[in-house]
Amino acid sequence: MEYRIRVGTSVDIDVLAEIIQDSFLDVAERFGLTPQNSPTHPSNCRSEWIIREMNRGVAYYILEVGEQAAGCVALEKINDEVCYLERLAVLPEQRQQGFGEALVKHALSEARNLGVFRVQIGIIADHQELLDWYEKLGFEKLEKKDFPQLVFPVAFMSYYFL
Ligand SMILES: CC(C)(COP(=O)(O)OP(=O)(O)OC[C@H]1O[C@@H](n2cnc3c(N)ncnc32)[C@H](O)[C@@H]1OP(=O)(O)O)[C@@H](O)C(=O)NCCC(=O)NCCS
Repeated sequence: MEYRIRVGTSVDIDVLAEIIQDSFLDVAERFGLTPQNSPTHPSNCRSEWIIREMNRGVAYYILEVGEQAAGCVALEKINDEVCYLERLAVLPEQRQQGFGEALVKHALSEARNLGVFRVQIGIIADHQELLDWYEKLGFEKLEKKDFPQLVFPVAFMSYYFL
């Protein structure tokens, strides 16, 4: 399917919040995450979150099919060595067409251009298919960690530039 990936700007804030919220709903349902027990999970994403992130320099990319936004990803440069890849989301009806992979590869290429050595992600540690999928894309599992404010353990993974 024909698609393009472009930079998201302030005019895209509401669309981005909607894509993220809609895409993470099935994850929230599967792991029993509610606005009460997991207020910071992306299934609760609000436009204000995107505004705050864009203001601190997080880059957003939107994948469009025709005029329609189908997915997005965010990239944040933490320091000279590492970028975080966050908010990867493809709308449920647009999945299994390679858009997720295209967004990850786009973010990796942008990160490489920024000169960092690695790209890190954090995912729900029990989300095994997602972990396997990222491994297939070249990410390596680093560690599993519990956080007092989160009801699920987080698995950190990294993609290293050679
Ligand atoms: C994770 C997520 C972004 C993947 O999006 P996607 O667009 O379905 O991803 P892809 O299509 O690239 O890959 C998914 C599967 O489709 C398959 N696929 C890729 N291209 C395909 C094509 N042209 N036709 C059919 N299937 C295809 C891939 O083989 C892959 O299957 P695999 O798990 O066996 O490897 C999406 O499921 C999502 O938004 N999930 C909820 C939010 C989330 O968990 N985000 C990640 C948080 S870090």
